[in-house]
Amino acid sequence: MEIIIQSDAEAATAVATRVIARLLREKPNAVLGLATGSTPLLLYRALIEMKLDWRIVTTFNLDEYVGLPKEHKQSYHSFMWENLFRHVNISKKNVHIPDGMSKDIEKCCAQYENKIRASGGIDLQVLGIGTDGHIGFNEPTSSLTSRTRIKTLTRQTHLDNARFFGSADKVPHHVITMGLGTFMEARQCLLLAFGAKKANAIAATVEGPLAAINPASILQMHPNAKLCIDEAAAGKLKHAEYYRWVYKNKPEWQVF
Ligand code: F6R
Repeated sequence: MEIIIQSDAEAATAVATRVIARLLREKPNAVLGLATGSTPLLLYRALIEMKLDWRIVTTFNLDEYVGLPKEHKQSYHSFMWENLFRHVNISKKNVHIPDGMSKDIEKCCAQYENKIRASGGIDLQVLGIGTDGHIGFNEPTSSLTSRTRIKTLTRQTHLDNARFFGSADKVPHHVITMGLGTFMEARQCLLLAFGAKKANAIAATVEGPLAAINPASILQMHPNAKLCIDEAAAGKLKHAEYYRWVYKNKPEWQVF
């Protein structure tokens, strides 16, 4: 795991933007796993400004609320088209987001996994993190080998996402999410976290034990996982000084 601590969200996003821009230039038909929520907004804005070529890029989104039609303002379909896809030259047929209105969720999840496999697998998976340690919507106690499936959100996530829906009670209970096992097959994972409210989850992810109660800790097992975080999110890391030194002293050929 590479822990990249930057002064603020803008600087941490700049590192992540460089990694993704480089991938899209080197591999124009890259397969990206994408996240929603507040965290990747700066990233998507920066990628839009770079005017990269998305024509043959394929994307798979992490998750979607069950019961929200695509057109709903808070669906992750709406989020992605509003905040990224409509601003870049991506082809609609290459965009994949789980269907929260599917009549057969089990089949829809199996098909999602098949489509990821058929696309050649995810080159780079963008992740945010919940205050309860979820990645995607793999809530605490999620199987560390889980695949795309239906999950039930925790009360904490309802409270955290109440800001999008007006109140916690309006946040749907169920979601479709890619699994922790799905992320483990991505060739690279890039997790972003900003603000003091993420500090406990980041400390548990980096320095806690590998445990289903803290789903993001699965990234300790990933051969190529980068965390781009700001100082506030790094606030509870015991070895922050070491991580800063390592990043600052990376050999030239490793830096991007
Ligand atoms: C979003 C997702 C979630 C969020 C997490 C953090 O697709 O899967 O894991 O990344 O809940 O949300 P924000 O960024 O709003 O704090």
